[in-house]
Amino acid sequence: TRPLKVALLGCGVVGSEVARIMTTHADDLAARIGAPVELAGVAVRRPDKVREGIDPSLVTTDATALVKRGDIDVVVEVIGGIEPARTLITTAFEHGASVVSANKALLAQDGAALHAAADENDKDLYYEAAVAGAIPLIRPLRESLAGDKVNRVLGIVNGTTNFILDAMDTTGAGYQEALDEATALGYAEADPTADVEGFDAAAKAAILAGIAFHTRVRLDDVYREGMTEVTAADFASAKEMGCTIKLLAICERAADGASVTARVHPAMIPLSHPLANVRGAYNAVFVESDAAGQLMFYGPGAGGSPTASAVLGDLVAVCRNRLSGATGPGESAYAALPVSPMGDVVTRY
Ligand code: NDP
Ligand code: HSE
Repeated sequence: TRPLKVALLGCGVVGSEVARIMTTHADDLAARIGAPVELAGVAVRRPDKVREGIDPSLVTTDATALVKRGDIDVVVEVIGGIEPARTLITTAFEHGASVVSANKALLAQDGAALHAAADENDKDLYYEAAVAGAIPLIRPLRESLAGDKVNRVLGIVNGTTNFILDAMDTTGAGYQEALDEATALGYAEADPTADVEGFDAAAKAAILAGIAFHTRVRLDDVYREGMTEVTAADFASAKEMGCTIKLLAICERAADGASVTARVHPAMIPLSHPLANVRGAYNAVFVESDAAGQLMFYGPGAGGSPTASAVLGDLVAVCRNRLSGATGPGESAYAALPVSPMGDVVTRY
């Protein structure tokens, strides 16, 4: 069987780990997919940076030429941001490639158009890594729970802010010191304002709500408060009440089923609740549905290697689809429910 060719767009925190695992797990990946997977090109901004384990002849600054080559099976987009990522992804579809992306900001803003571009070209768009790092959440919502009715998705979906809040609460660390550490560990976005002001969690809430409720939810539909105003005094007050403070994303179907709400804000969590014990950059998400009841998804929510795990899972799925001539599930946004940021739904923690 011919090797499947992968173009890697971005070789930073996530991309470098994707390349490393593609190399170290090459034999296992080939066995699982049914064909070898070959890294055919790596697009970056700074070509002269030394990148361990990457063949320098594969490195290019011309990402557009790479996705236009015409012989690429899968483009892995881990550049981040809106442009050039958006144009590169649509160009990839037009030139015959399927796409795996970790780009929640882009998917929350333009997911519908990107899905349409994938469908028009009969290609896959997978993005498990865009929400909650290594934790399988997109595929369980889209596939495992496809026969159930999801009513609520609630939890911690940003590792950086959980790392900061946890450090402030348990070690008394200062906000800036904890943010600097989260950045050094590769958890934070290129501009960490996206994390601490709740934009990243809101993008994830939009993606989750869209998939869970089969409707379209965009970043602008999500009520958003960050965690920059949370102080040591707030933690002391919370403790007196037997609580801690977490940044939550909450997506709910209204009781009458006619609308959905999505919001991100700091919340007091009783210390007895499992969410109170989510440490460091871990994430935890509860999904409530009619038939299954309550499910909890928990694990590393950020960082190069955990995120690369989710990217590689998508890569295997997309490669299998290429070989079988199938495409995976598309957007499934048929419900067209109105989205109100807060609604009148009472949330129980
Ligand atoms: P980094 O900033 O570490 O890496 C970005 C990479 O993209 C770098 O290699 C950079 O090149 C390259 N790049 C930037 N602009 C261009 C361009 N115009 N053309 C070609 N290459 C470019 O980001 P991360 O790896 O942390 O994140 C990547 C994506 O993954 C983002 O969408 C992020 O939201 C998402 N994500 C990140 C997680 C994490 O924990 N870090 C977790 C889940 C998702 P160079 O190396 O030369 O600077
Ligand atoms: N900056 C993000 C976070 C990366 O801290 O959760 C994972 O999506």
